[in-house]
Amino acid sequence: MKAAIRYYTQTGNTKKLAEAIATQLGIEAKSVEEPLEEKTEILFLCNSVYWAGIDKHVKQFVKANAGKIGTLVNVSTAAMIESTYNQMKRVAAETGVNISGKEFHCRGKFAALHSKHPNEEDISAVKEFAKKVAG
Ligand SMILES: Cc1cc2nc3c(=O)[nH]c(=O)nc-3n(C[C@H](O)[C@H](O)[C@H](O)COP(=O)(O)O)c2cc1C
Repeated sequence: MKAAIRYYTQTGNTKKLAEAIATQLGIEAKSVEEPLEEKTEILFLCNSVYWAGIDKHVKQFVKANAGKIGTLVNVSTAAMIESTYNQMKRVAAETGVNISGKEFHCRGKFAALHSKHPNEEDISAVKEFAKKVAG
């Protein structure tokens, strides 16, 4: 199965998930600054929420690469909200991208909150998730 990983990070939390997926699947995790080179069956899109919204770089990536995304699998970290899935669902609908019903989410360190996240348990869980989805 052809899979790709893209991430957007401001403080490093989400990159940890992307790199764990990369280790699990034996492929590279790249920033959303890098367009997809070819059509991919599964795109693990690792993202977070900043002041209640998904960053514009992530939205721009989906829009610019929509034709190459078979299924978008949302992977997110956040301090307060449960997941960025619902927001990503809207981005996918706006760009005509198929989004998987499966998603991964864990807490991410923010100021004094969740200081150790993503922790080892989160990393193991995201690897297991990636294996199930694309292994
Ligand atoms: C500028 C900023 C704004 C944030 N706003 C929110 C927010 O509105 N809701 C929330 O749940 N988390 C919020 N967070 C927490 C981040 O979603 C969380 O720390 C996430 O893991 C950051 O991912 P990153 O380290 O990959 O950038 C914010 C973090 C930053 C740095």
